[in-house]
Amino acid sequence: MTTQTTLAAVADFHSVVQSRRSVRRYEPDFRIPREELETIIERAAKAAPSSSNMQPWRFLVVTDPELKQRMLPVANNQQQVVNASAVLVLLADKQMYEKADEIYGAARDAGYMTEELSRQFAENSRRTYSSIPAERLLEIIVFDAGLVAMQLMLQARAMGYDTVPMGGYNREALRELLAIPDRYHPTILLPIGKAAVPGHPTARLPISGLTYWNTIE
Ligand SMILES: Cc1cc2nc3c(=O)[nH]c(=O)nc-3n(C[C@H](O)[C@H](O)[C@H](O)COP(=O)(O)O)c2cc1C
Repeated sequence: MTTQTTLAAVADFHSVVQSRRSVRRYEPDFRIPREELETIIERAAKAAPSSSNMQPWRFLVVTDPELKQRMLPVANNQQQVVNASAVLVLLADKQMYEKADEIYGAARDAGYMTEELSRQFAENSRRTYSSIPAERLLEIIVFDAGLVAMQLMLQARAMGYDTVPMGGYNREALRELLAIPDRYHPTILLPIGKAAVPGHPTARLPISGLTYWNTIE
Protein backbone atom coordinates (compact mmCIF):
# COMPACT_ATOMS: atom_id res chain seq x y z
CA MET A 1 0.00 0.00 0.00
CA THR A 2 1.29 3.50 -0.79
CA THR A 3 1.18 6.16 1.92
CA GLN A 4 -1.73 7.78 0.14
CA THR A 5 -3.83 4.63 0.00
CA THR A 6 -2.93 3.92 3.63
CA LEU A 7 -4.17 7.38 4.63
CA ALA A 8 -7.36 6.87 2.63
CA ALA A 9 -7.92 3.54 4.34
CA VAL A 10 -7.41 5.15 7.75
CA ALA A 11 -9.87 7.92 6.87
CA ASP A 12 -12.38 5.31 5.69
CA PHE A 13 -11.92 3.38 8.90
CA HIS A 14 -12.58 6.48 11.00
CA SER A 15 -15.64 7.45 9.00
CA VAL A 16 -17.09 3.97 9.38
CA VAL A 17 -16.43 3.88 13.13
CA GLN A 18 -17.63 7.43 13.74
CA SER A 19 -20.79 7.07 11.67
CA ARG A 20 -22.05 3.94 13.41
CA ARG A 21 -25.03 4.68 15.58
CA SER A 22 -27.78 2.51 16.92
CA VAL A 23 -30.62 2.80 14.42
CA ARG A 24 -34.10 1.82 15.58
CA ARG A 25 -36.23 2.91 12.60
CA TYR A 26 -35.81 0.97 9.37
CA GLU A 27 -37.31 0.97 5.88
CA PRO A 28 -39.75 -1.94 6.33
CA ASP A 29 -39.83 -2.93 2.66
CA PHE A 30 -36.12 -2.84 2.03
CA ARG A 31 -34.50 -6.27 1.69
CA ILE A 32 -30.74 -6.69 1.92
CA PRO A 33 -29.78 -9.38 -0.60
CA ARG A 34 -28.72 -12.61 1.06
CA GLU A 35 -25.26 -12.43 -0.59
CA GLU A 36 -24.66 -9.09 1.10
CA LEU A 37 -25.69 -10.47 4.49
CA GLU A 38 -23.28 -13.33 3.86
CA THR A 39 -20.53 -10.85 3.02
CA ILE A 40 -21.14 -8.94 6.26
CA ILE A 41 -20.91 -12.14 8.29
CA GLU A 42 -17.99 -13.54 6.33
CA ARG A 43 -15.85 -10.43 6.61
CA ALA A 44 -16.66 -9.88 10.27
CA ALA A 45 -16.08 -13.47 11.30
CA LYS A 46 -12.96 -13.94 9.20
CA ALA A 47 -11.13 -11.10 10.91
CA ALA A 48 -12.33 -11.32 14.51
CA PRO A 49 -10.02 -12.59 17.24
CA SER A 50 -11.16 -15.23 19.72
CA SER A 51 -9.76 -17.19 22.61
CA SER A 52 -7.47 -19.92 21.14
CA ASN A 53 -9.07 -19.05 17.81
CA MET A 54 -12.07 -21.18 18.80
CA GLN A 55 -14.50 -18.83 16.99
CA PRO A 56 -17.44 -19.67 19.27
CA TRP A 57 -19.85 -17.40 17.41
CA ARG A 58 -22.78 -18.86 15.48
CA PHE A 59 -25.19 -16.79 13.43
CA LEU A 60 -28.90 -17.45 13.20
CA VAL A 61 -30.19 -15.05 10.56
CA VAL A 62 -33.90 -14.36 10.68
CA THR A 63 -35.28 -12.86 7.47
CA ASP A 64 -38.72 -14.47 7.34
CA PRO A 65 -41.26 -11.64 7.86
CA GLU A 66 -43.65 -13.83 9.83
CA LEU A 67 -40.91 -15.04 12.12
CA LYS A 68 -39.68 -11.48 12.67
CA GLN A 69 -43.22 -10.51 13.60
CA ARG A 70 -43.30 -13.31 16.15
CA MET A 71 -40.05 -12.01 17.61
CA LEU A 72 -41.72 -8.70 18.48
CA PRO A 73 -43.18 -9.69 21.88
CA VAL A 74 -40.01 -11.63 22.68
CA ALA A 75 -38.01 -8.45 22.06
CA ASN A 76 -40.11 -6.28 24.38
CA ASN A 77 -42.07 -4.93 21.40
CA GLN A 78 -39.06 -3.18 19.93
CA GLN A 79 -40.24 -2.58 16.38
CA GLN A 80 -36.80 -2.77 14.82
CA VAL A 81 -36.92 -6.57 14.88
CA VAL A 82 -39.84 -6.39 12.45
CA ASN A 83 -38.74 -3.52 10.22
CA ALA A 84 -35.06 -4.32 9.82
CA SER A 85 -34.28 -6.47 6.81
CA ALA A 86 -32.75 -9.19 8.95
CA VAL A 87 -32.29 -9.94 12.61
CA LEU A 88 -29.06 -11.71 13.32
CA VAL A 89 -29.27 -13.76 16.49
CA LEU A 90 -25.72 -13.94 17.73
CA LEU A 91 -25.15 -17.23 19.50
CA ALA A 92 -22.17 -18.41 21.53
CA ASP A 93 -21.45 -22.12 21.27
CA LYS A 94 -20.68 -23.76 24.62
CA GLN A 95 -19.17 -26.73 22.77
CA MET A 96 -17.02 -24.69 20.42
CA TYR A 97 -14.01 -26.88 21.21
CA GLU A 98 -15.57 -29.65 19.12
CA LYS A 99 -14.36 -27.75 16.06
CA ALA A 100 -10.75 -27.66 17.31
CA ASP A 101 -9.57 -30.29 14.78
CA GLU A 102 -11.25 -28.44 11.93
CA ILE A 103 -9.78 -25.11 13.02
CA TYR A 104 -6.21 -26.27 13.45
CA GLY A 105 -6.47 -28.66 10.51
CA ALA A 106 -7.28 -25.65 8.33
CA ALA A 107 -4.23 -23.81 9.72
CA ARG A 108 -2.10 -26.84 8.87
CA ASP A 109 -3.57 -27.09 5.36
CA ALA A 110 -2.86 -23.39 4.81
CA GLY A 111 0.76 -23.98 5.78
CA TYR A 112 0.54 -21.92 8.99
CA MET A 113 1.65 -24.77 11.23
CA THR A 114 3.01 -28.27 11.11
CA GLU A 115 0.85 -31.36 11.41
CA GLU A 116 2.30 -32.05 14.84
CA LEU A 117 1.66 -28.54 16.16
CA SER A 118 -1.85 -28.52 14.76
CA ARG A 119 -2.62 -31.76 16.59
CA GLN A 120 -1.16 -30.40 19.82
CA PHE A 121 -3.12 -27.14 19.63
CA ALA A 122 -6.35 -28.97 18.88
CA GLU A 123 -5.83 -31.44 21.69
CA ASN A 124 -4.94 -28.69 24.21
CA SER A 125 -7.95 -26.58 23.24
CA ARG A 126 -10.32 -29.51 23.46
CA ARG A 127 -8.96 -30.54 26.85
CA THR A 128 -8.93 -27.01 28.29
CA TYR A 129 -12.34 -25.81 27.19
CA SER A 130 -14.18 -29.05 27.83
CA SER A 131 -13.05 -29.09 31.46
CA ILE A 132 -13.16 -25.49 32.67
CA PRO A 133 -16.06 -24.38 34.93
CA ALA A 134 -19.22 -23.60 32.98
CA GLU A 135 -19.28 -20.03 34.28
CA ARG A 136 -15.74 -19.35 32.99
CA LEU A 137 -16.51 -20.95 29.63
CA LEU A 138 -19.57 -18.74 29.26
CA GLU A 139 -17.51 -15.67 30.07
CA ILE A 140 -15.02 -16.57 27.34
CA ILE A 141 -17.51 -17.32 24.59
CA VAL A 142 -19.69 -14.29 25.35
CA PHE A 143 -16.64 -12.03 25.29
CA ASP A 144 -15.59 -13.48 21.92
CA ALA A 145 -19.12 -13.01 20.60
CA GLY A 146 -18.84 -9.35 21.61
CA LEU A 147 -15.74 -9.00 19.48
CA VAL A 148 -17.43 -10.35 16.39
CA ALA A 149 -20.55 -8.27 17.17
CA MET A 150 -18.58 -5.04 16.85
CA GLN A 151 -17.06 -6.24 13.59
CA LEU A 152 -20.52 -7.07 12.25
CA MET A 153 -21.80 -3.60 13.09
CA LEU A 154 -18.85 -1.88 11.43
CA GLN A 155 -18.92 -4.13 8.38
CA ALA A 156 -22.63 -3.45 7.91
CA ARG A 157 -21.98 0.30 8.25
CA ALA A 158 -19.15 0.11 5.70
CA MET A 159 -21.67 -1.36 3.25
CA GLY A 160 -24.20 1.40 3.88
CA TYR A 161 -26.43 -0.43 6.34
CA ASP A 162 -27.25 0.14 9.97
CA THR A 163 -27.67 -1.96 13.07
CA VAL A 164 -28.62 -1.84 16.72
CA PRO A 165 -27.24 -4.30 19.26
CA MET A 166 -30.08 -5.56 21.46
CA GLY A 167 -29.96 -7.21 24.84
CA GLY A 168 -33.54 -6.26 25.65
CA TYR A 169 -35.32 -9.52 24.92
CA ASN A 170 -36.53 -12.60 26.76
CA ARG A 171 -33.86 -15.25 26.33
CA GLU A 172 -36.04 -18.23 27.19
CA ALA A 173 -38.88 -17.06 24.95
CA LEU A 174 -36.39 -16.58 22.10
CA ARG A 175 -35.00 -20.07 22.66
CA GLU A 176 -38.47 -21.47 22.42
CA LEU A 177 -39.54 -19.47 19.38
CA LEU A 178 -36.45 -20.29 17.34
CA ALA A 179 -35.89 -23.79 18.78
CA ILE A 180 -32.37 -22.89 19.88
CA PRO A 181 -30.61 -25.92 21.41
CA ASP A 182 -29.18 -25.58 24.89
CA ARG A 183 -25.54 -25.66 23.71
CA TYR A 184 -26.01 -22.24 22.10
CA HIS A 185 -26.16 -19.22 24.39
CA PRO A 186 -28.04 -16.30 22.78
CA THR A 187 -26.04 -13.07 23.27
CA ILE A 188 -27.48 -10.12 21.36
CA LEU A 189 -30.07 -9.68 18.65
CA LEU A 190 -28.67 -7.57 15.84
CA PRO A 191 -31.23 -6.05 13.46
CA ILE A 192 -29.57 -5.02 10.17
CA GLY A 193 -31.30 -2.85 7.62
CA LYS A 194 -31.68 0.37 5.71
CA ALA A 195 -32.22 3.30 8.07
CA ALA A 196 -35.52 5.17 7.75
CA VAL A 197 -34.49 7.64 10.45
CA PRO A 198 -30.85 8.19 11.41
CA GLY A 199 -29.70 7.11 14.83
CA HIS A 200 -29.65 9.90 17.37
CA PRO A 201 -26.34 11.14 18.76
CA THR A 202 -25.33 9.87 22.16
CA ALA A 203 -22.92 11.32 24.70
CA ARG A 204 -19.86 9.60 26.07
CA LEU A 205 -18.08 9.97 29.38
CA PRO A 206 -14.77 11.80 29.13
CA ILE A 207 -12.02 9.25 28.66
CA SER A 208 -9.89 11.05 31.26
CA GLY A 209 -12.29 9.89 33.97
CA LEU A 210 -12.18 6.30 32.75
CA THR A 211 -8.47 5.84 32.19
CA TYR A 212 -5.85 5.07 34.78
CA TRP A 213 -2.13 5.10 34.19
CA ASN A 214 -0.10 2.51 36.02
CA THR A 215 -2.31 2.49 39.10
CA ILE A 216 -6.04 2.80 39.84
CA GLU A 217 -6.62 5.80 42.07
C1 LIG B 1 -25.28 -5.24 24.91
C2 LIG B 1 -26.16 -4.12 24.41
C3 LIG B 1 -27.52 -4.23 24.53
C4 LIG B 1 -28.36 -3.23 24.01
N1 LIG B 1 -29.71 -3.42 24.02
C5 LIG B 1 -30.50 -2.55 23.37
C6 LIG B 1 -31.89 -2.81 23.24
O1 LIG B 1 -32.42 -3.82 23.68
N2 LIG B 1 -32.63 -1.89 22.58
C7 LIG B 1 -32.09 -0.76 22.05
O2 LIG B 1 -32.84 0.01 21.45
N3 LIG B 1 -30.79 -0.47 22.17
C8 LIG B 1 -29.97 -1.35 22.80
N4 LIG B 1 -28.61 -1.11 22.87
C9 LIG B 1 -28.04 0.07 22.22
C10 LIG B 1 -27.53 1.11 23.20
O3 LIG B 1 -28.59 1.79 23.78
C11 LIG B 1 -26.59 2.07 22.43
O4 LIG B 1 -25.50 1.34 21.91
C12 LIG B 1 -26.05 3.20 23.29
O5 LIG B 1 -27.10 4.02 23.76
C13 LIG B 1 -25.07 4.09 22.54
O6 LIG B 1 -25.62 4.58 21.32
P1 LIG B 1 -25.01 4.26 19.90
O7 LIG B 1 -25.02 2.77 19.70
O8 LIG B 1 -25.90 4.96 18.91
O9 LIG B 1 -23.60 4.77 19.87
C14 LIG B 1 -27.78 -2.08 23.42
C15 LIG B 1 -26.40 -1.96 23.34
C16 LIG B 1 -25.59 -2.97 23.79
C17 LIG B 1 -24.09 -2.85 23.64
